[in-house]
Amino acid sequence: MSRVYPVSSLLSPVAQPPHPVPLPEGEGPVGSARRKWALQAVTALTLHLAACGPELDVALQSQRGGTSHEAGNNCMACHQEEGLGKGRFTVAGTAYTPGREPNANATITLTAGGVQVLTLETDASGNFYTTAPVPMPEESVVPKVTNLTTADSISMPFPVGSGACNMCHTGRLKLVLD
Ligand code: HEC
Ligand code: HEC
Repeated sequence: MSRVYPVSSLLSPVAQPPHPVPLPEGEGPVGSARRKWALQAVTALTLHLAACGPELDVALQSQRGGTSHEAGNNCMACHQEEGLGKGRFTVAGTAYTPGREPNANATITLTAGGVQVLTLETDASGNFYTTAPVPMPEESVVPKVTNLTTADSISMPFPVGSGACNMCHTGRLKLVLD
């Protein structure tokens, strides 16, 4: 059985403490290398704790006309439990026009088991994002992107267990809709 791992486990931006590197013979007691490593580990942990305080755990959702940043990049590289970005996004990505401009006129819907579970508006940067609870990764969803004016839409041909849309929709796989 295949398993979809949460993006956070693949893309944690938090530096891991370095492995202890044994000192070459004659370069001082191993104890000092251990102490140095322990100090580095504590420093990394302190930075880590500072980076994921409760002030970053806020509710956010994209809105028509708003602006955001990093269009096209994987938002969850930073907007997740151990990231530096405000808000732990459960779904986020970017939609483009055929001219590769931000698509500010798109609506994203997610359907699980035939039931629509989420609707998101792209903002003026073409980005959509939310911190709302979603069924993934336990349950997969079928994403669909609709043009608000023409009602034309494109749907993902198979269900997906991750809301980190830009993890895959990058380069030639960008989400492009009239
Ligand atoms: C490289 C890390 C990084 C990436 C990638 C990233 N962000 Fe951010 N984002 C941040 C940081 C850090 C902040 C906080 C900046 C601040 O508080 O001024 C932030 C702030 C925001 C905010 C404002 C939150 C608020 O209310 O102050 C929004 C909205 C946002 N990001 C959306 C996105 C979207 C959408 C994506 C993907 C298309 C994305 N970000 C990708 C790091 C990132
Ligand atoms: C694990 C990788 C992956 C993730 C994550 C992912 N997709 Fe996809 N998606 C694909 C692939 C692969 C295709 C097929 C691309 C093709 O047929 O050209 C696709 C196709 C689509 C299509 C149809 C595109 C078209 O031009 O017809 C839409 C719409 C779509 N995805 C939306 C989303 C949204 C929204 C998200 C986030 C909720 C998402 N996808 C997350 C891999 C992914």
